[in-house]
Amino acid sequence: MCGIVGYIGPRPCAPILIDGLRKLEYRGYDSAGLAVLDTTQVAVGEAPKLGIVRAVGKLSKLDDAVRERPVPGNVGIGHTRWATHGRPTEANAHPHMVGDVAVVHNGILENHVELRNELQAQGRKFLSETDTEIAAHLIDIELANGARSLLEATKLALSRVRGAYAIAAVSRKEPDVVVVAKSFSPLVLGIGEGEVFAASDVPALLAHTRDVIFLEDGDICELRANAVKIERLLVHGDGSPERITVTPVVRHPKKVDWSPAQAEKQGYKHFMLKEIFEQPTALENTLRGRVSLDDGDINSGEIGLAPEDVKDVKRVILLACGTSHHAAIAGRNWIESLGKVPATVELASEFRYRDAIVGPGDLVVSVSQSGETADTLAAVRDAKKRGAKLLAISNVVGSAIPRASDGALYTHAGPEIGVASTKAFTTQLSALLMLAVWLGRRNGKLTSERARDLLQKAIELPTAMREALDSDGECEKIARRQLVQTDAKDCLFLGRGLNHPIALEGALKLKEISYIHAEGYAAGEMKHGPIALIDATMPVVVVAPRDAHYEKIASNVQEVRAREGRVIAIVPRGDTTIANMAQDVIEIPDVDPELTPFITVIPLQLIAYHTADLKGTDVDQPRNLAKTVTVE
Ligand code: F6R
Repeated sequence: MCGIVGYIGPRPCAPILIDGLRKLEYRGYDSAGLAVLDTTQVAVGEAPKLGIVRAVGKLSKLDDAVRERPVPGNVGIGHTRWATHGRPTEANAHPHMVGDVAVVHNGILENHVELRNELQAQGRKFLSETDTEIAAHLIDIELANGARSLLEATKLALSRVRGAYAIAAVSRKEPDVVVVAKSFSPLVLGIGEGEVFAASDVPALLAHTRDVIFLEDGDICELRANAVKIERLLVHGDGSPERITVTPVVRHPKKVDWSPAQAEKQGYKHFMLKEIFEQPTALENTLRGRVSLDDGDINSGEIGLAPEDVKDVKRVILLACGTSHHAAIAGRNWIESLGKVPATVELASEFRYRDAIVGPGDLVVSVSQSGETADTLAAVRDAKKRGAKLLAISNVVGSAIPRASDGALYTHAGPEIGVASTKAFTTQLSALLMLAVWLGRRNGKLTSERARDLLQKAIELPTAMREALDSDGECEKIARRQLVQTDAKDCLFLGRGLNHPIALEGALKLKEISYIHAEGYAAGEMKHGPIALIDATMPVVVVAPRDAHYEKIASNVQEVRAREGRVIAIVPRGDTTIANMAQDVIEIPDVDPELTPFITVIPLQLIAYHTADLKGTDVDQPRNLAKTVTVE
């Protein structure tokens, strides 16, 4: 998971690389580094110096190191790391330099052990435990064997490796070139005026350009300040030059509509808090132009599938990981209750390995904020091979999962930088709701009246979400009182129906950023196990909006109270039944029972945020996590 950047142009590149890495720090943050070719002062007939600075820890450490040891020059590459091969040490931090070449890499080279053994047997010495250093050696070997350019050497080197990579390389011998290549790991180019950028993700480019090229798997590029050459590398065999086919390709830049300000904190203490508060607007943006109230329908063409694609759909299979999986559970409920199509939801990481029965007649809907999650991508590719129809719900235009699918329904959350997903989640919910309505209207099972009513209420949701956000102060007090001052070690989240995934999501948010162990449970299951955990030290967050489950969940609250559990209840405004039993209450505005997850999740996000902030954890970059999980 790691982030890479590259720059070539007229400007000093170290600040550009560091700024780009800052926008990618969500991808990994245990060490960072950069390599810059000092083209500013080259003696005649000599190759420029290659300045490499690396530092363990957050990017600020690299920033400090670069201040102490400046690296002048305007061609360079950089990396922020999330350790896969080798501990987070300076030796393992990228870039890795061999001979005249420096390399940064995101991904995993699967045949690294055999390659390392082979290279060591040839007398090659390794300075790190990383798989990336192997790539640097391979490029160096190809140059020594007569490759005419860094581009050619990189192509030949990459023909030896298996696995996932986004790679960038520079060489002292070719100071006017950066070579980048992509296979399975994300990589985008930013096209400026007389300058070119490369990065793992769009936010790293936004301060400089909105003209981006999303590279495809197999692309290898030679970047010059005024020219981008892209070729497609096809490897046939063992890597000898004649066994590689290289075809030139033209990829036209796309304009992204994300603004640079969206990738900044804009006065909020953390990206996560900013993104929680952006949810009403993100929801408006995702619904805008897609909902037709006249006929109670979703505009076909917006959904990513043709109406005729639906005729043959016998079942929907939703695939996702983490928070996106929780959105998919709510989506499954809507697809069955509104769309009247049988639906199942699966963790992509399990589905891909369990020899699932999938094929023609199945609509596989993947849900992925990044559009790059390795497990989801692999599951989608597998379902495609077996003949299923594929729809991707993603927040990143042109990312790998939408590209691998037959259609894409994009959320318009804007860049999500906080590692803990918030606004992506609520916009995913809205995309899934739209899909369910669209299916129900296509197969005639959802009346236009019900659809119109629901969509009208969906459009009004941002107002209710803003009201729910007013509970911020109360959520902070509850976080302090119930979780921080009591030094809570565990917390239980209960919900039913559409709010079961919200309980799961509340628990995930709390554990990932505050490091308090938390479990989300279907409230009806409590008596089958978790009730054994309840005593006076156990905070239990109960999600109890006004819906068909309200009375049942009120009974669960009684069961918790009978065992002296401390109840924090999310209840409809004016509620007394559950409110009277709970230690702490957060009132939320009433919305249609089908739409409650959009509202109930907000206090849970805020409680998790404030708990983490009060405990002083790194809210935006929690330990051991990375936002985009491009490894299995
Ligand atoms: C949790 C979180 C992760 C992601 C998961 C899937 O806050 O962000 O659980 O939801 O890694 O990522 P995407 O949606 O990019 O496939």
